[in-house]
Amino acid sequence: MTPIFDTHSHYDDEAFDEDRDELLNSLKAGGVGKVVDVGAGIPSSKRALALANKYDFVYCALGVHPDEVGDLNEETCAWLEKEAGEQPKCVAVGEIGLDYHWDVHPREVQKKWFEWQLDLARRLKKPVIIHSRDAASDTADVMKACRAGEIGGVVHCYSYSAEMAREFLEMDFYFGIGGVLTYKNARKLVETVEYVPMEKLLLETDCPYLSPVPHRGERNSSLNIPFVVTKIAEIKGISEEEVRRITWENAHKMYGLS
Ligand code: NI
Repeated sequence: MTPIFDTHSHYDDEAFDEDRDELLNSLKAGGVGKVVDVGAGIPSSKRALALANKYDFVYCALGVHPDEVGDLNEETCAWLEKEAGEQPKCVAVGEIGLDYHWDVHPREVQKKWFEWQLDLARRLKKPVIIHSRDAASDTADVMKACRAGEIGGVVHCYSYSAEMAREFLEMDFYFGIGGVLTYKNARKLVETVEYVPMEKLLLETDCPYLSPVPHRGERNSSLNIPFVVTKIAEIKGISEEEVRRITWENAHKMYGLS
């Protein structure tokens, strides 16, 4: 059986403080082959990098989430540029984007740092991991203006319509699919998974958040991804092994891993 590639996790989160090493050490036996720990701010990016350097099967993305762009200044931008460029285990810039649900920072400020980090990814020739909530058209507009199609990456925890998915597909982006797909109210996401070609889907947890049914509400981990695999296989009318194999290949291709 092909192992699972969890393309988006936050094992650096304090929710894992009590048993992080034990849990990470159990993943391989649980059928999880590789994990990308995604930075959400500067301190979290530093922790993600430390985890990637500690575990051979853990990689990291370094970047600043729209809620955390207050972290960015001359000094931290220089750190991000240097480490994202030089660290061999850093496979992407992320997570970056726009969050108009929480609106922690003014939208113009969010956009400025989103653009800066897209440009950073372009300079470093790394893909981007995009977080976008209640900000579909602005996200697509910024991406187009920054020619994100030439940079490549994933819209993680995709939450918009199948119609909107066409815009991101046109830029050749991947779609991160996680526990939300198993929820009762996931009709829009089911339609998106029906619509998007298998070659553009990635598996993710966003753990500790968004546990799939039947573990909804509990702390999530990569060990829960098989519930998402089952659902994708059902929607696409293919075997679970095919879902594992194709998403494994997609993740390697996107992150430039062999
Ligand atoms: Ni995330």
